[in-house]
Amino acid sequence: MSDVNDFIAGLPKAELHLHIEGALEPEMMFALAQRNGVALPYADVEAIRAAYSFTRLQDFLDLYYRGMSVLLTEADFYDLTLAYLRRVAQDNVRHTEIFFDPQGHTGRGLAFETALNGISRALADGEAELGITSHIILCFLRHLPAEEAMATLDQALPHRDRIVGVGLDSSEQGHPPAKFKAVFDKARAAGFLTVAHAGEEGPPEYIWSALDDLQVLRIDHGVRALEDPDLMLELARRKMPLTVCPLSNLRLCVVDDMTAHPLKMMLDRGLVVTVNSDDPAYFGGYVNDNYYAVRQALALSDEELALIARNSFGASFLDEATKAKYIAEVDAYVASTGRSVAS
Ligand code: ADE
Ligand code: ZN
Repeated sequence: MSDVNDFIAGLPKAELHLHIEGALEPEMMFALAQRNGVALPYADVEAIRAAYSFTRLQDFLDLYYRGMSVLLTEADFYDLTLAYLRRVAQDNVRHTEIFFDPQGHTGRGLAFETALNGISRALADGEAELGITSHIILCFLRHLPAEEAMATLDQALPHRDRIVGVGLDSSEQGHPPAKFKAVFDKARAAGFLTVAHAGEEGPPEYIWSALDDLQVLRIDHGVRALEDPDLMLELARRKMPLTVCPLSNLRLCVVDDMTAHPLKMMLDRGLVVTVNSDDPAYFGGYVNDNYYAVRQALALSDEELALIARNSFGASFLDEATKAKYIAEVDAYVASTGRSVAS
C-alpha cells in the first residue's frame, strides 16, 4: 500500500451511504442459500461475481433483489450486518448509517421486524465488539406505489426508537421524489430525519424535488447536480451534504471513467462531499477502496481527503458533541501523521 493510501487507511471516517443488502458478499449469499434451502441461479461464487457486469442502475437492481432472496431469518440479517461491521472496522470506520429496504423483504413474506431485529442486534453487538456507532435508515422503494411506502412507514412507527430516518432508493428514472411527498411529510412529523437518492441517474430536477418536496437533510449521490449551475449554488448555500459513491458510479456507468468523476469539481465548488461504498459486495470495494480510487484518479490532496473524512462526521445524524469528538479524532490523526492539513 502506498504512503498516501496508508494515510487514508488510518483516517477515522463515517460511512453514510451503505445498503446493508448490498454488503451481501457472494460467499455469504451461497452459504445462506444452503442454510435456508434457497435455490440460486448460479453454479458457484465465481459465477455470481461474473454476473456483476452492469451498464445501468436497473441491471444491478435486478441482481440485488435476486440476491436478497437468501435473507430469510433474523439470524441472516444479524450475520450480514456483523460481517459488514467487522470488515469496515479494518477501514477505520468509526460510525455508520445503514440503509435497509424493508419492502424488499416484506414483499417476500417476511415480517417487518425480521430484518430490523437482526440488523439492530448486530449493530449493538458490533458497537460492543468494535466501538463502531451506528444508526439505521429505512429506505422506501421508489418503483413501488406511494401507498405501499405509506404502509411501510406505518409499520415503522412503533420502532421509531431504532430507526433514525427514512430515505428513498431503487429505480430512479420515472419516479421523482415528489411522488413521495405525503409519505415524507408524515415521516418528518413523526420525528424521522430524511434523505433521498437523487441525481444518480435521474436529472437535476429530482435533486430540486428532494430538497423542496421532501425537505431532505442529505442527498444520496447527487452527482448530476453539476448539470445545473443554480442547483450547485443552492447546494453550497445550504451546506447540503452529498453522499457520493464513486465505485458505484463507475460500475453503473454513471461515469465512463474515474478520471471523469465530478467529485473534485463538487469539492472545488464548496459542496459538502462525503465518500461511501453504496453496495460494496456488488461494486468491488468498501469505503477505503472508494477513497483510494478518487484520490488516485482525481489527484486529491491530503487536505481534501481529511476534509471528506470530517464531512462524513459533520453530515451524520450524530449529536453535535459526538460529531465534535469524532472530528477531533480526525484532526489528532492528521497531526500525528505530521502532515500539514488545515481544518
Ligand atoms: N439500492 C441499492 N443501491 C442503490 C443505488 N445505488 N441506487 C438506487 N437504489 C439502490
Ligand atoms: Zn444507494
